[in-house]
Amino acid sequence: MSREETQTVLVVDFGAQYSRLIARRVRELKVYSEIVPYDVAVEKIAERRPKGIILSGGPASVNIDDAPQCDPAIFELGVPILGICYGMQWMAHSLGGEVAASGLAEFGQTEMAAQTDSVLFKTLPPEQTVWMSHRDSVSRLPDGFRAVASTENAPIAAMEDTEQGFYGVQFHPEVVHTPAGTDLLKNFLYGVCGALPTWTSVSMIEDAISAIRKQVGKEKIICGLSGGVDSAVAALIVHKAIGDQLTCVFVDHGLMRKNEGEQVEDTFRKHFQINLIHVKAKERFLAKLDGVTDPERKRKIIGEEFIRVFEEVASEMEDVNYLVQGTLYPDVIESGTRDAAKIKTHHNVGGIPLDMQFDLVEPLRLLFKDEVRAIGQELGLPEEIVWRQPFPGPGLAVRIIGEVTSERLELLCEADEIVTQEIKRAGLYRSIWQSFAVLPADLKSVGVQGDARTYGSTIAIRAVTSDDAMTADWARLPDEVLTRLSNRIMNEVPGVSRVVYDISSKPPSTSEWE
Ligand code: XMP
Repeated sequence: MSREETQTVLVVDFGAQYSRLIARRVRELKVYSEIVPYDVAVEKIAERRPKGIILSGGPASVNIDDAPQCDPAIFELGVPILGICYGMQWMAHSLGGEVAASGLAEFGQTEMAAQTDSVLFKTLPPEQTVWMSHRDSVSRLPDGFRAVASTENAPIAAMEDTEQGFYGVQFHPEVVHTPAGTDLLKNFLYGVCGALPTWTSVSMIEDAISAIRKQVGKEKIICGLSGGVDSAVAALIVHKAIGDQLTCVFVDHGLMRKNEGEQVEDTFRKHFQINLIHVKAKERFLAKLDGVTDPERKRKIIGEEFIRVFEEVASEMEDVNYLVQGTLYPDVIESGTRDAAKIKTHHNVGGIPLDMQFDLVEPLRLLFKDEVRAIGQELGLPEEIVWRQPFPGPGLAVRIIGEVTSERLELLCEADEIVTQEIKRAGLYRSIWQSFAVLPADLKSVGVQGDARTYGSTIAIRAVTSDDAMTADWARLPDEVLTRLSNRIMNEVPGVSRVVYDISSKPPSTSEWE
């Protein structure tokens, strides 16, 4: 029996913004966790033989007609269950209790009294602050349960039936605003479920390696490197699993950050001794982009050209049947379910060559970004790649507003490198989601250098904080960082006569200018 079958804790997603966070927290406690939709067949849950189940929160009320319902047979599985917020309410409702809109909603940090003779709270302080976000609450307990915590507005803020192994909390233990939340989750995972903390970087790598060997056998496999952490880690794991059967292809479109191409060479060819085909295709991409100013056309051209180059390389190799993709777990959860309006077509540069017949190998398919970074570190990937900020596939082409030319690329590359250096020097590189330079190429302005009037380019600095790129706030960079950025860009990048800082948030702006 594999470890995954015996140690998994499933998170049943009732549509909560926090479901993903719950799974991440559980994995941080080294227990493997996966998210399943609330309407999953109960047999599917049983097949996974989970150690425990967590019912997530959700925006609905259990008392409305089309409230999301899981099959109540979930309570017959003999598996411990923890309900969080809506999950607790649905548990109470389904097992014969009552949930009411008391009119006493609670949002934000709330003081709570907990009974420390209870299973969930036994290692926690009796008085604690928890994060609440609810209108309804449990007003009558199902048979067999007792209330084990209360707040001013929620007399039943937590409940348990230790006999059956069912627990519920009205608050959110998964968010940082509930300081004792991690301890509570530990009590459930280790104490109630008896789960073992076996989900570590080493075990993730071992699992991935044996899956890859099983899938690929003696066949050859190809992997597109982008310079980013996901494709790098995916390639390294595959290399560890099947060595020289792997060939990496790095299509260098010439729109990368400074020294990125060299770094990919150094890391993969020299350090890890991986077969690497480095296609230097800058001229080819620039020729295609000649005269193009529309952002979406840039993306389309670059995406298509990328695929063409990749196909050319692959078609010259013999007997390659597999392609590595750096797909992450959030993409897997979202695919098919997310229907957000398309603001920009994010061409998946480095993605699947559409016309080619490959079987996909996705070694990161079940991993979150922080786990990918941890594995990268474990495998000896340089810090610079492990912690590299996200970078759009079409690269600097969408950071040059207007036509892309070789001179403009050079200017932007230099300015961008200064931004990276200074943000790193200030110790802000990891906490800031993205920081970079933008060249609004047609925006010239007047300056004065020495006694002479200049008429030069403008560089805009963009730095944003974000968790998921869906929303972002402009970073409040310290004065001294802004001052250094302005001085250095003005002094070191020829042709720049003005530096501005972008103070737009997303929405209504986007992170990239194009
Ligand atoms: P926006 O500009 O929409 O960007 O706030 C959100 C995130 O997506 C990245 N981005 C792209 N990534 N191809 C990509 O692979 C693209 O065409 C693209 N455009 C934007 C952006 O850098 C940010 O992280």
